[in-house]
Amino acid sequence: MQALVLAGGEGTRLRPLTYTTPKAVMPLAGRPFLSFMLDWLHSHGVDDVVLSCGFLSGDVRRVLGDIYQGMRLRYVVEDEPLGTAGPVRLALDEGILAERLVITNGDVLTDLDLSAEVAWHEERGAGATLGLVEVDDTTSYGVVPTNADGLVERFIEKTSGPVPTNRINAGVYVVEREVIEGIPSGRAVSFEREVFPVLAGDSLYGYHAESPYWLDIGTPERYLEGTWDLLAGRVDSTLPARDETGSLVFEGAVVAGAHVGPQTVLGRSCWVGTDARVERSVLHDRVVVGADATVTESVLGERVRVGEGARIGPGAMIGAGATIGEGAKVAEGARVDPDEVVAGTAAAG
Ligand code: GTP
Repeated sequence: MQALVLAGGEGTRLRPLTYTTPKAVMPLAGRPFLSFMLDWLHSHGVDDVVLSCGFLSGDVRRVLGDIYQGMRLRYVVEDEPLGTAGPVRLALDEGILAERLVITNGDVLTDLDLSAEVAWHEERGAGATLGLVEVDDTTSYGVVPTNADGLVERFIEKTSGPVPTNRINAGVYVVEREVIEGIPSGRAVSFEREVFPVLAGDSLYGYHAESPYWLDIGTPERYLEGTWDLLAGRVDSTLPARDETGSLVFEGAVVAGAHVGPQTVLGRSCWVGTDARVERSVLHDRVVVGADATVTESVLGERVRVGEGARIGPGAMIGAGATIGEGAKVAEGARVDPDEVVAGTAAAG
């Protein structure tokens, strides 16, 4: 089975981390994010993956390579962003698509039963089938009401108005080639705004997955939530064992005399000084945290240096290579750009 993963977005909501690392290979619990998605696709029989890239495409290819768990990985790179459906048309035009394709948003962490979705699609002879999940707050998602047989009645993209159901588009599609042939070539096209609304009421079906794990990790809050869920085992994964605080400390990290945890990820070769405190946070590789510093519910990109006694967070995001001076305070929810220097006691953000 073939899958195409949409991995070309700029990931603006995860800036400043995505200035230097594309969301597709952003470390999540110490692993490139897409490795979780590729494991999941592999477990449902996918053996051929097309990675649709644009922004920082070279980094995605360098990290993931051309083969993963025996699956063939190919890259289709667009010069200009083509949206969500445009890249699929480009892959068709490049002659590499099969008759049927699984398409996924490349920022979804899920264990949804993809095999059941494909079976559902086949049973109905659908042109396209959307995986649907239920969420409490539908405002930032496409809402998808269906009839009893799963035929999509309407496709209601991101609205704060009243909606008929809390089932939303999970960004996991099964699509027949004839639908892809109907997507215009050579320009940006959106599945959500242009393709699905037209197919609704005709050959578009929704497969409602029974309470799977599902999370779009594309915002700072959800990136942290996904991390904590992985650490707690709320989603299936092959992560190494966590320590007694529910934290994951990768090789080469030095933490003697520091308080690390709960629910923290320390990347490779991090160094955390005496009496420093790192709680419910993510440190990418080679981060240094000085003695007596505090990092709370925050994400620090690789090579960030935190001076002694500095206070970070909660909810701060610090770009790769930034330096936080001794005793500095990085306020709640602040953003620090890559390589920025936050001096002494100055507040950032
Ligand atoms: P934000 O800027 O934070 O909204 O993130 P994003 O750029 O990733 O956009 P969004 O979360 O809406 O995208 C959903 C999925 O589609 C992600 O996996 C993106 O990588 C991917 N995507 C978005 N736009 C494009 C595009 O123009 N081309 C390709 N190939 N993929 C895209």
